[in-house]
Amino acid sequence: MPENSNDQSRRSFLGKFTKGVVGASLFPTILTAADKQRNLQSLSRLREKYSVNDNIQIALIGAGGMGVADATTAVTVPGIKLIAACDLYDGRLSDAKQKWGNDIFTTRDYREILERKDIDAVIIATPDHWHKDISVAAMNKGKSVYCEKPMVHDINEGNEVVAAQNKNKVIYEVGSQGVSSLGNEKAKQLLKDGAIGKLNYAEGFWARMSPFGAWQYPIPADASPKTVGWDTFVSNTNKRPFDPLRFFRWRNYRDYGTGVSGDLFVHLFSSLHFVTSSIGPEKIMATGGLRFWKDGREVPDVMLGMFDYPETREHPAFNLSLRVNFVDGTGGTNYLRMVGSEGSMTVEWDKVTLYRNKQNADTSDPLLQTKKNDGKQYVYERKDMLPPEKLEYIADKGYNGAHFDHFYNLFNAMRTGGKVSEDSLFGYRAAAPALLCNDSYFSNKIINWDPSNLKIVTK
Ligand SMILES: NC(=O)c1ccc[n+]([C@@H]2O[C@H](COP(=O)([O-])OP(=O)(O)OC[C@H]3O[C@@H](n4cnc5c(N)ncnc54)[C@H](O)[C@@H]3O)[C@@H](O)[C@H]2O)c1
Repeated sequence: MPENSNDQSRRSFLGKFTKGVVGASLFPTILTAADKQRNLQSLSRLREKYSVNDNIQIALIGAGGMGVADATTAVTVPGIKLIAACDLYDGRLSDAKQKWGNDIFTTRDYREILERKDIDAVIIATPDHWHKDISVAAMNKGKSVYCEKPMVHDINEGNEVVAAQNKNKVIYEVGSQGVSSLGNEKAKQLLKDGAIGKLNYAEGFWARMSPFGAWQYPIPADASPKTVGWDTFVSNTNKRPFDPLRFFRWRNYRDYGTGVSGDLFVHLFSSLHFVTSSIGPEKIMATGGLRFWKDGREVPDVMLGMFDYPETREHPAFNLSLRVNFVDGTGGTNYLRMVGSEGSMTVEWDKVTLYRNKQNADTSDPLLQTKKNDGKQYVYERKDMLPPEKLEYIADKGYNGAHFDHFYNLFNAMRTGGKVSEDSLFGYRAAAPALLCNDSYFSNKIINWDPSNLKIVTK
């Protein structure tokens, strides 16, 4: 069996860790006494040099909740200007003018945005069923793209997006912003250094218990076929008469949304794949049910997914268990944890908590010691100095956050001809197991997936 990088590097971490001689990458030089006591370490990002020589002009397509959050963050990166917005609901277009100025160009038709030569990049934050069409059209017009997650609505759409990026050689970034966070980067380094030993299991969940959290969004009072471009909304899916619930609460319906797995598991896949350098699982099974939010929705509000990751050069074989619960009386939280043979870590965007198994540090076996001395001689059982059991790596004060980092990485790649981690291939590999959860749930079948060749395997 090949020794993967997780195996090789853990020795170096262990060496440093157990001897208490920990390298600069693990302990900053100056720690207050109180910090030392708490085993708290600060994560900080080295400021990379960049020149704001070229302004980048962007447009927003889909100016709803996330689109506005995306564009608001994007323009905080120096040299970025929003000059246009597109949406199918007029209320969102007037809100966009109010926010970014009356002189921005607004339209209901994304093709008018793509025709403009003065737009370098677009943010696509429409419902999921429009991601593929607009992404491909934008790249074919030479635009760089920030597309919200999940990259595609259907497993069969991924290759077209990957092909469009390869053909047009533009920068394409999917919007699971955690991938660009300090927390994900630290976890990746810790795993590589062997901090939790050999990875064998990971788990993650999202818990919510509120109407808004469960997608019961308000419907604007003026919503009507006049103020909403309904025909366009359904033009690439099943045609139906105008229905404001379907338009404003699109996540609940399979024609437009991708269920809890496409909406939320996909973030966990993105982070997990980034941290482990994995390309995805080969076996996918999901179960769940609609337990509480029986408002006409077509997707479950509780979902459990299980996934088998095969051994690769990058990581050992491991299992993953994911869960979303929208009826979770404990309130709202989310979680990603990786477990190895010698510890575990919980990974957040601005924090990583590493738990080491103390026993591993103590190599003296009492039985062997007694045997060695034959019980005749007094042995002083002097205790060892134990390394810390728990280490918290916390982002420095003033950290701009994952969302800023994700946009910074996109624009930096555009300026320097560089790369982003979450490109179309990465985005497809993160979306695929999330989308296949729905296929497993609705077909009541285990799905076999080939993450290298991006194909469903029929056995
Ligand atoms: N990265 C994250 O943390 C995160 C968080 C929330 C949502 N999202 C993603 O962002 C996307 C949007 O979600 P949201 O919560 O903002 O939804 P939303 O309903 O608030 O906004 C979607 C907007 O798109 C518009 N729209 C629909 N079809 C369009 C089309 N063809 N052309 C132009 N505009 C169109 C709608 O009118 C609406 O204003 C989804 O893909 C979602 O998964 C990502």
